Amino acid sequence: MNIILIGAQGSGKGTQASLLVQSLGIVHIASGDLFRVVSQEQTELGEKIRSYLDKGELVPDEITVQMILNRISKADCASGVLLDGFPRTVAQAQALDKGLQGAGQYIDMVIYLKVPREELISRLSGRYICQAQQHVYNIYSNPPKVPGLCDIDGSKLYQRSDDRGEALEKRLNIFFTETIRLLDYYRAENRLVEVDGEQAIDQVHVELMKIIKNWDRSPPK
Ligand code: AP5
Repeated sequence: MNIILIGAQGSGKGTQASLLVQSLGIVHIASGDLFRVVSQEQTELGEKIRSYLDKGELVPDEITVQMILNRISKADCASGVLLDGFPRTVAQAQALDKGLQGAGQYIDMVIYLKVPREELISRLSGRYICQAQQHVYNIYSNPPKVPGLCDIDGSKLYQRSDDRGEALEKRLNIFFTETIRLLDYYRAENRLVEVDGEQAIDQVHVELMKIIKNWDRSPPK
């Protein structure tokens, strides 16, 4: 089963994706996580990607699409993927559909986690992520057992530099002007379902599992 999670920055895509892949046995592919790894490399590509991430701007479609299609083609993705943060433009969505079609696959469903802007800013100001494996915490709503350390792997927690100031404003503006257009793209094909992302983390998870289990998995027309 192939699922896309759409949501603004801080809507809980990463949080819900980690829970869903445990229950569904599919692979979590987060474009932001993949970019953060490449951005640490001392290469021309690493430097280029770092500059987009630091400014809160989208990485160009040609780099992004290639990276994701390449990841999806790996053997571990055969039983399905959960895409988090990709696509973010209609051009990316079209390229994804085309790429999957070539491999005899398709996107089963697209979930939009809907959260108001004020709530997003408050969540991101409390977000901490582990250095080793990107596990996500929140000092207000989902704190680690030991402050500053990941419950799962014990690595140190850090705050993302793009969760503050101008970069955060820019990311949210891009979502609400550009990425939001994806909703019409997927709604037109009856592949979209909206979920109230303002509920508690476990409530959102329960609702998502219910929706996914009852979803009609016929290919898009
Ligand atoms: P990326 O890493 O994807 O960041 P993002 O989309 O900005 O998403 P976030 O990780 O900020 O939010 P999330 O929804 O995952 O929230 P989370 O679960 O952590 O992208 C980074 C950059 O990479 C982009 O700016 C761009 O440059 C580039 N990029 C990535 N994809 C690209 C693409 N397709 N094209 C071009 N460029 C691309 O939750 C947030 C916080 O809230 C956490 O602290 C969590 O504990 C808490 N929380 C979660 N759910 C709840 C809840 N229900 N109640 C209370 N608190 C909650």
